Amino acid sequence: MHKKIVLTGITPSGTPHIGNYIGAIKPALEMAKNPDFDAYFFIADYHSLIKLWDGQLRQQYIYEIAATWLAAGLDPKKVMFYRQSDIPEIMELNWILTSVTAKGLLNRAHAYKAAVDANIAEGEKDEDAGVTMGLFNYPMLMAADIIMLSADLVPVGKDQIQHIEIARDIANRLNHIYGCNLLKAPEALVDKSTQTILGLDGRKMSKSYNNTIPLFAPSKLLKKLVMKIVTNSQLPEEPKEVKDCMVFALYKHFADETEVSILAERYQTGIGWGEAKQILFEKMDVVLTPMRERYEYLLENKQIIDEYLAEGAAKVRIEAQQLLVKLKQQIGL
Ligand code: TRP
Repeated sequence: MHKKIVLTGITPSGTPHIGNYIGAIKPALEMAKNPDFDAYFFIADYHSLIKLWDGQLRQQYIYEIAATWLAAGLDPKKVMFYRQSDIPEIMELNWILTSVTAKGLLNRAHAYKAAVDANIAEGEKDEDAGVTMGLFNYPMLMAADIIMLSADLVPVGKDQIQHIEIARDIANRLNHIYGCNLLKAPEALVDKSTQTILGLDGRKMSKSYNNTIPLFAPSKLLKKLVMKIVTNSQLPEEPKEVKDCMVFALYKHFADETEVSILAERYQTGIGWGEAKQILFEKMDVVLTPMRERYEYLLENKQIIDEYLAEGAAKVRIEAQQLLVKLKQQIGL
């Protein structure tokens, strides 16, 4: 049987936080263990150019994201693990795809529309104020990432479903225009379990809200941040709902089933928030400490990361070139 290709990327625009790990990295690594899939996981460094204009910081984040994937258990012998900018073929494909894509398709993309709406709300004369062509074209580049490796499935959060649909449209359109079947139209894979991870203040955990828990915060800082999670004002002896409780939600991602049911029972009989948070912190720290140690080791030995990425890029480029050769032939280049 032909294995399905599952592909996903992470933009290196910040230090990885717990939300990235639970929402993207952990489920992706679980899929990579499934023998029905060939996994392609990459660092979307070209995407980071849109949001981040500091080269040194970008370098740092690229290594941090790479070290995170590896520390979380990515096996570069089994997974195609690479950096987007090491695959120049993606840029060539990007232009070929751009040339058949209706501008209106991208006018409707959420990120762009949100920027325009914000400008209108602020009474800006120019609706496009502050919008770079990079931001506008960002779903195009994402389509190129996906189509370049003929991905079947792209695990994404709800906010990214539209981008996968755009990639489908673009692949189908090029196939139609040039009368071929060379490009694979991908499908989004939205996992119910990857519900949005909430941040310290109860909003979605996101760098832009400044409410994140860094994935590899040292134990002391981790404890401090866990203690800061907002809870309600119920007294310790009052029975508590596990539903919509962030402390409990986080615990579920780190503890096993027995541990989770024990904590659920404590909620029913009454547990103080301080104690619940202490239990959460201890569990997180036990799970994260070995990963943190590996992460720190890799960041002190970046040549290991460089080697893995170079090996990954060499393998991926061969596949990218094969598709590009066929595509160029088809379109008369
Ligand atoms: N846009 C994604 C994000 O910000 C990252 C990304 C870039 C991606 N290219 C991709 C994800 C291709 C999946 C497939 O999270």
